Amino acid sequence: MLSEKINKIRNEAILQIQSAANEDEINAIRVKFLGRKSEFTSILKGLKDLSPDERKSVGQLANSAKREIEEALAQKGQEIKQKSFDFAAEKIDITIPAVKMKRGHLHPLTQIQNELEDIFISLGFEIADGPEVETDFYSFDALNMPPDHPARDKWDTFWIKSDGEQKDKILLRPHTSPVQIRHMENHEPPLRIISPGKCFRNEATDAKHEHTFYQFEALMVGEDVSVANFKFIAEQFFSRFFKKKITVRLRPSFFPFTEPSFEFDISCTVCGGKGCQTCKGGGWLEVGGAGMVNQNVFVSSGYPRGKYQGFAWGFGLERLLMMRNKITDIRFFHSGDIRFIKQF
Ligand code: PHE
Repeated sequence: MLSEKINKIRNEAILQIQSAANEDEINAIRVKFLGRKSEFTSILKGLKDLSPDERKSVGQLANSAKREIEEALAQKGQEIKQKSFDFAAEKIDITIPAVKMKRGHLHPLTQIQNELEDIFISLGFEIADGPEVETDFYSFDALNMPPDHPARDKWDTFWIKSDGEQKDKILLRPHTSPVQIRHMENHEPPLRIISPGKCFRNEATDAKHEHTFYQFEALMVGEDVSVANFKFIAEQFFSRFFKKKITVRLRPSFFPFTEPSFEFDISCTVCGGKGCQTCKGGGWLEVGGAGMVNQNVFVSSGYPRGKYQGFAWGFGLERLLMMRNKITDIRFFHSGDIRFIKQF
């Protein structure tokens, strides 16, 4: 009796499942035939009142019927899902041109720094680095400028408030020359280094002056390094950088950390020295400061007085790029203006 009933329920369920048209109907059939209030569930609940033999055979039949119904439900559910899948909406048009990825590139100052480093490495120099937040000692004292030295005024310095406990005052370095001392403290001559890096000066900005800019320090020390070595290295470097023959001219100048000191000019990169608009007719372009390292600087770095000699120079990276690429305003470099950056 019971087994007939079970077979009937199963047949009826399977018939209805087969004619189901959507997911809702499938769910309704599941509730109707297998749900808590279904006839099927009440049969299962009544199993415990049967005799052991009956319980076994009816139980097995009920379980297999339940499994069949569940399988039929699952299969039909799958079929409906596939049929209702919207292939048109999922279509990908592989002929549409791809959206171009935007590619960035290195900032012009980074590019020129890499370029300079390559040239100097090929001349046997090493790259040295130093902190941008420096101490009074490395920025001035060790460079032959004690606290009351009037030459300190030449470097308009951003001082950083100290807590009063530090021995040394802290500042944003106004030039890359502190790296000379830091390097010599830990290295013995002969040595050849360059040190490109960021510097800061507390000054009003205009087309030629920025509060933040890059400098490029060079230092060569040995027992017999002379001004002739400076002139040769400088001419080599500028000729390679501007890709044409460049000569260097020295004019007397003053820096506390060099003796003698000079300003150095390069032959005009446009007219070669004949005189043109770029060099205002003079044939020379001013580049930076240089000189033979003052013996006091060697002593601050821990070298004996009079044993070594060497040259040092320092100039602005932006200025060099402005000369080569005819850039008229230094403030473009840190403006973040993408129209400027994109041109490099
Ligand atoms: N540090 C100097 C400046 O910023 C430049 C310089 C470097 C001059 C090395 C001589 C030697 O003006």
